[in-house]
Amino acid sequence: MMNKENIVVLDFGGQYSHLITRRIRELSVYAELLPFDTPASEIESMNPSGIILTGGPNSVYDKNSPKPDPKIFDLKIPILGICYGLQIIVNEMGGSITRTNKREYGKATLSISSNQKLFHGINSKTEVWMSHGDATETLPDNFVSIATTDNSPYAAINLKDLFGVQFHPEVTHTADGTKILRNFLYEICKCKGLWTMDSFVDKTVANIKSQVGDDSVLCALSGGVDSSTVALLLHKAIGDKLTCVFVDHGLLRKNEAKNVLDIFKKLNIKIIFYNESDRFLNLLDDVTDPEIRRKLIGQEFIKVFEEISKQNGSFKWLAQGTLYPDVIESASTKGPAVTIKTHHNVGGLPENLKFSLIEPFRELYKDEVRNVARIIDLPKEILARHPFPGPGLAVRIIGNFNNEKLSICRESSNIVEEELKKSNLYDDVWQAFAMVGDDKAVGVLGDGRKMGYIVTVRIVESTDAMTADWVKIPYDVLDNISSRITNEVDNVSWVTYAISSKPPSTIEPQ
Ligand code: XMP
Repeated sequence: MMNKENIVVLDFGGQYSHLITRRIRELSVYAELLPFDTPASEIESMNPSGIILTGGPNSVYDKNSPKPDPKIFDLKIPILGICYGLQIIVNEMGGSITRTNKREYGKATLSISSNQKLFHGINSKTEVWMSHGDATETLPDNFVSIATTDNSPYAAINLKDLFGVQFHPEVTHTADGTKILRNFLYEICKCKGLWTMDSFVDKTVANIKSQVGDDSVLCALSGGVDSSTVALLLHKAIGDKLTCVFVDHGLLRKNEAKNVLDIFKKLNIKIIFYNESDRFLNLLDDVTDPEIRRKLIGQEFIKVFEEISKQNGSFKWLAQGTLYPDVIESASTKGPAVTIKTHHNVGGLPENLKFSLIEPFRELYKDEVRNVARIIDLPKEILARHPFPGPGLAVRIIGNFNNEKLSICRESSNIVEEELKKSNLYDDVWQAFAMVGDDKAVGVLGDGRKMGYIVTVRIVESTDAMTADWVKIPYDVLDNISSRITNEVDNVSWVTYAISSKPPSTIEPQ
């Protein structure tokens, strides 16, 4: 979908590249993250209002360090370089960069020396976040320094519509970062702010209607926010021409299948339900490696789905909740990323299913999907539900897989959720669940000694699951969770609480 007003963000591999793109969209301007070496001709054909060069881990003098097509500087489009992006501008325009021995990291006070459009409405002293080893030594001809810090005489530079900032306006530690980005968009690039989720919904509903015509659409539903929002949006666009398929793989949360079915029935959306629990659980018998579990579940899901689509007539279209970060992962500048977990999303199906794909959220971030969900009134029961992995409880059962541990995991997690809801903490945390391994500990049951499983409770806060902190839950809530689990769940004798943050840990135990 071509957006009338857009900003091109060239990705030099910095950890904040996605964050910059999201921040711009939050300021109501569509932004697209493209590889650093995207040809200038391609960028020109997109007619962007501005270009942003992101930060990155390299030094401009490194052999093979990423460089943009130099012709971008001839396009007469405003450019803002951030951190490494500033150094790219200095280097390309004939200035010099040096490796300082004073690595500047953390907060610094910015002194604004020139009341430039970029700093419009900002006090002359403001706090910014720095993270760099290299620094500008000499400015290119005609450039001026427009702000300094104690360690950086060139903390912000300018020549006409070319701007560079050595600090990171996209992170919240930069007090006026949002204002600076807003100034770039509205004062310098003359954007109007056409990107809103309301306009996205209207445009997408109209597009789906004309794309689908009289054909039928199949939508694989997991009960999570993304696929549920896709389903509801499609239903608004094409009504009964939509059929949802919901497969219970036996690894869902307690009562989840029933809850999802009830909600979709109330919404009058056609839904076919398949309980394939036995089929999936038999596959996992004695499989201890979580990555093999993920793959087995993914492969089986595809088989089930192929059978279902054969049985249910001719669907031309398949709707999926693919998000923007999935789409552009391959465009990363960092080379092959290490696979920590394969994150097989059960909704992700291969294209050889011979459907045409409808992916209305291909250009959205997760928080934008949540906004769409709010606009189209996705029921709160789904919207407020914590994220849940596609392979379900299989990733929370450590070691041997068996039905007893599955039941312990499901029942204990349900208690964790119930107790958080009772204490009004559920909506404040990102995820909360229980997991179980093979370790056992001694407990006392009546007058006897009994070995029971050790259940570990994990409750984390996060904004995007990239990082997470364990939550300092009040002791009385933890106490209730613990005593209910040992009293109500068979064969559990101990409860522990996971107090590791991500990084170095991950959210799920495996
Ligand atoms: P980790 O454990 O990597 O998880 O910190 C980050 C987020 O991803 C979810 N997760 C998964 N989601 N399939 C999914 O669809 C998976 O295999 C998977 N593994 C982890 C996890 O719940 C958290 O929200």
